[in-house]
Amino acid sequence: MRKPIIAGNWKMNNTPAQAKELLEGLKPLVADNKTTEVVVCVPAILIADVKKLIEGTNIHLGAENMHWEESGAFTGEISPLMLNAYDVEYVIIGHSERRQYFAETDETVNKKVLSALAHGLKPIMCVGETLEEREAGVTDKLVAEQTEKGLAGVKDISNVVIAYEPVWAIGTGKTASAEEANRVCGVIRQTVEKMLGSEAAAAIRIQYGGSMKPANVAELMAQPEIDGGLIGGAALKAADFSALVNNQ
Ligand code: PGA
Repeated sequence: MRKPIIAGNWKMNNTPAQAKELLEGLKPLVADNKTTEVVVCVPAILIADVKKLIEGTNIHLGAENMHWEESGAFTGEISPLMLNAYDVEYVIIGHSERRQYFAETDETVNKKVLSALAHGLKPIMCVGETLEEREAGVTDKLVAEQTEKGLAGVKDISNVVIAYEPVWAIGTGKTASAEEANRVCGVIRQTVEKMLGSEAAAAIRIQYGGSMKPANVAELMAQPEIDGGLIGGAALKAADFSALVNNQ
């Protein structure tokens, strides 16, 4: 059985004061949940604060990005060793905003995934098509290719989570239909099966991301291929995020 995983992606939001307010609101609302893994992926500068704020709770800590090198001349970057030092557990890799605005490619995503795993971090690797790619009918091919290239060289997939995020559904209020999201998550699972076998494919958790909210969570989470959500906008409100966590 795959344990559902609901991960917030705060993106470039929240000051320390706002982070505190959000988490103080969230903690009691998710405290009794034993069935879903709850993660908050936060800006690097908030990691130290958030680590303290969630100590002793059932909320897991994640980062939004990292470099693949351990140290060096990479101004502005964060290394896996720095994340290790704060007991960060998850790290989002290759979010579409990083691919779009920060020139990340399947190759850099792969380096980051391999580095994260080598440092005991659990990557949440993002894949997904743009509107143009969807309209051109290449969604399945593209998502399979992103999965293959991103996971190249990975031998043990048990610490990997994949997030399927159609780019046109992110922050737009548009959601992929539950059936379509499920179908593409199935394509990802088949790709993992081809690469690493049926046991790995059956075990890997695949999230849907893109305007997941209280109104559509039940339908999306009822799909057999969807094991969780990567949540942007709705992760910034304790009531909304907890409603996603407590959906079942
Ligand atoms: P959204 O963002 O929930 O605001 O659409 C999801 C994401 O980008 O991870």
